[in-house]
Amino acid sequence: MDDDKMICTCMEVYKSTIVKAIKENGLKTVEEVGQITEAGTVCGQCQDEIQIILDEINGK
Ligand code: FES
Repeated sequence: MDDDKMICTCMEVYKSTIVKAIKENGLKTVEEVGQITEAGTVCGQCQDEIQIILDEINGK
């Protein structure tokens, strides 16, 4: 999980930023990640990847 990459190219949000936001704020949904990081709030193409990160962290 220490591989960093840009998940949301619209807002230039990296995986590390999303992971940190999820852990610090206990985020559960793609919408919540969008509110905190702005990832997924433009074209929506990265939302599947955000969901995968959420699942990884929240242990689904
Ligand atoms: S790539 Fe994330 S909203 Fe477009």
